[in-house]
Amino acid sequence: MACVFGCRNWMIAVLTAERQKLQTESDAIVYPILSLAPEITTEIFLRCRGSETYSRPYTSKGPLLLAQICHQWRQIAIHTPELWRCPQFNAISSSVDLFKLWLDRSGNLPLTISLQSWDTAQASSMIEASTIHSHHWQDVNFSLPLTLYPTLGLVNASFPMLRKITLNIIQRGGDQIVTDGVIVIRNAPLLRNAHLGTLWGVKVDIPWSQLTSLTLRETVNVADCLTLLRGCTDLVKLVVSIFGQTPPHKDSLVLPALESFHCNLMAALILEPLTLPRLQRLGITESVQPQHAVVLKNFIRRSSCPLYALSISGYNIAPETLTACLIAVSDSVSDLDVHDLPPAQLLAALEPMEILPHLKILRIHFKRGRLSETDYRDLIDVVHMRLSPPPPRGCLEGFALYSDMGPTGLLNPYYMPTVSAMARFRAFAAAGLKIKLTIAGRQATHSTHVALDSSSELYMCLAAPW
Ligand SMILES: *[C@@H]1O[C@H](CO)[C@@H](O)[C@H](O)[C@H]1NC(C)=O
Ligand SMILES: *[C@@H]1O[C@H](CO)[C@@H](O)[C@H](O)[C@H]1NC(C)=O
Repeated sequence: MACVFGCRNWMIAVLTAERQKLQTESDAIVYPILSLAPEITTEIFLRCRGSETYSRPYTSKGPLLLAQICHQWRQIAIHTPELWRCPQFNAISSSVDLFKLWLDRSGNLPLTISLQSWDTAQASSMIEASTIHSHHWQDVNFSLPLTLYPTLGLVNASFPMLRKITLNIIQRGGDQIVTDGVIVIRNAPLLRNAHLGTLWGVKVDIPWSQLTSLTLRETVNVADCLTLLRGCTDLVKLVVSIFGQTPPHKDSLVLPALESFHCNLMAALILEPLTLPRLQRLGITESVQPQHAVVLKNFIRRSSCPLYALSISGYNIAPETLTACLIAVSDSVSDLDVHDLPPAQLLAALEPMEILPHLKILRIHFKRGRLSETDYRDLIDVVHMRLSPPPPRGCLEGFALYSDMGPTGLLNPYYMPTVSAMARFRAFAAAGLKIKLTIAGRQATHSTHVALDSSSELYMCLAAPW
C-alpha cells in the first residue's frame, strides 16, 4: 500500500516538474503577433470578415474563432463591438444565450440581424432578446413561425436607427391562418426599406409613406396590394409578386416617384391599374400571356415614362407575345435583360431591326442546358447586325451571355462555344463591343467559367439588375 502511494506521489512530482518546465519554455517564447498594439490587432480582426455581411455562431469562423485562440485575442475580440453587430442565427446553429451575448457585445452599434427559427419557443425568446436592442436595430431580417408574429411586442418600442425590415413566415402544416394579427412598427423615422413575405392574414402597420423601397412577395391579390400601395407615395423601387386569381377591379393608382418596378404576371395584372410617370426600369416574370402585351402597351402609353431598361423572363412565352411585348417598349428601351427565354424565340424576336431599334445593352441569361451550335450562330448574327445597323438606329455597346448548364455537367469542351464562335466573339470585342461570356454549371459544386470578358461592369449589372 505504502509503495502504491509512494509511486503515485513520485509520479505526480515528476509530471508537475515536467509541466513547470514546459510552462517556463512556453512563457519564454515571444509571439511577435502578441506584441502588436491592440488597435492593430483589432483592425486585423475587422479585416478578417471579408465581404460577408453576417457573422455566424460557428467556432470555425468569425468572432468565435478569433476569441478562442488565446486570452489576449479573446479579450480583444470580445471588446470589439464591430465584430458582433451583424449576427445571423438560425434554429439549428443557435442557443438563445449565445444570441443574447452576441447582442450585448455589439454595444450600441447599428445592428444588422438575420434570425431564422421555426421553433416557436426559441424564436420567441430570441425576438424578446433582440427587442431589448430595438434602439439600435438598423437592418433586421426575421423568418419566424406564423403564430409568433401577432405577439411581437413592438408597438411601443422605438427604432431610431431602423432603415430596413424583412419579415418572412416559416409556415408549418398545423399552423392556423391568423386573421386578426397585427405587426405594428411606429417610431422608426429612418425606415425606408421593407421586404415582406406572405403574411397569411397578419396585418402590417409600418410607416408606409416613408418607404422608398418595398418588396411584397406572394401577396394574395391585386386589390389588397393596391390598397397598401396607396399609402406608399414616396416609393422609388417596388417589387411585387402576386399569386392566386384576382377579381376584376377598376381602381387606378399613380406612383409619382417610382423608378424601378418588378412584377410577376401570374393572374390579373398589377400593371393594369398603375401609372408610373418616372419609371426607368421594368421587370416582368412568369407566364407572360398574349393579353399581357396589350396591357403592357397601354401601361407604357399611359405612363409616358423614361423607361430605358426592361427585364423579361419566362420559359413559356409564345414568340408572338414576346415580339408584341418588345414592340410595346420599343421606343425607349436601350437595355434588355432576358432570363430563361428559349434561345430560338428570343433570337427570332430580336432579328427585325424595328424591334428595340435603340438597343445598346443586351444581357441573356439561359438556365436550361447548353446552347447548340445553331443557337450560337444565330446569336452571333443578331449581335453582328446590331453592331452596325443602318442609321438612325443606335448600335449595340454591350453584350453579356450567362449560360447555366444546370446539373448535367460543366467545363466539358462539348458545352463551350465552338472555336469559330469564340473567334467571332473576340472579333466583336476587338471592334469595341463590351462583351462577357460566362458558362456555369454544377457537378459536385457550382462553378463558373468566364470564356471571354472585355467588361466586368456588364456582369455586375447582370448579377444584380434589380
Ligand atoms: C433574409 O434572410 C433569409 C434567411 O437567412 C434569406 O434567405 C433572405 O435572402 C434574406 N432577405 C433579405 C431581403 O435580406
Ligand atoms: C403601449 O402603450 C400604451 C399607452 O402608453 C398602452 O396602453 C399599451 O398597453 C401599450 N401596449 C403594449 C403592447 O405594450
